[in-house]
Amino acid sequence: MKRLLVLNGPNLNLLGKREPGIYGHGTLDDAVKLARETAAEKGIEVDEYQSNHEGDLIDAIQQAEGKYEGVIFNPAAYTHTSIGLRDAISAIEVPVVEVHISNVHQRESFRHQSMLSPVCQGQIVGFGLLGYRLAALALMESFEGRR
Ligand code: DQA
Repeated sequence: MKRLLVLNGPNLNLLGKREPGIYGHGTLDDAVKLARETAAEKGIEVDEYQSNHEGDLIDAIQQAEGKYEGVIFNPAAYTHTSIGLRDAISAIEVPVVEVHISNVHQRESFRHQSMLSPVCQGQIVGFGLLGYRLAALALMESFEGRR
């Protein structure tokens, strides 16, 4: 059975309550559900993990190797700062798709740079929670193409 991991970084546990004008009213469970339902259409299972701690996210990326076909990753604020996460993504073969709920390019300039995009398969930005569904579709298309 193929599996995907939905990985979420700091403060995303607060989705639904956190800055709803930017992130909407949907919760993290809603985001995971979208990815899970999308993957289930192709018989693929989804696990999820959220942490507010950079090292825990690095551990999760390292442990994805050999276990998952792909990772849907919203690194939240660590997107803009974390060389450690970038190196972890570089160290594994599993494709990672970077997701942002908001359009980071319309926001403060410090959000315009991603440390991670260069080592991710792709980036989905600004489509709200739908981004989690789009990322699942993108990963599934790409590993079907690889067969
Ligand atoms: C975010 C964008 C980041 O800049 C921010 O720090 C987040 C959420 C998004 O999903 O839009 O926490 O990753």
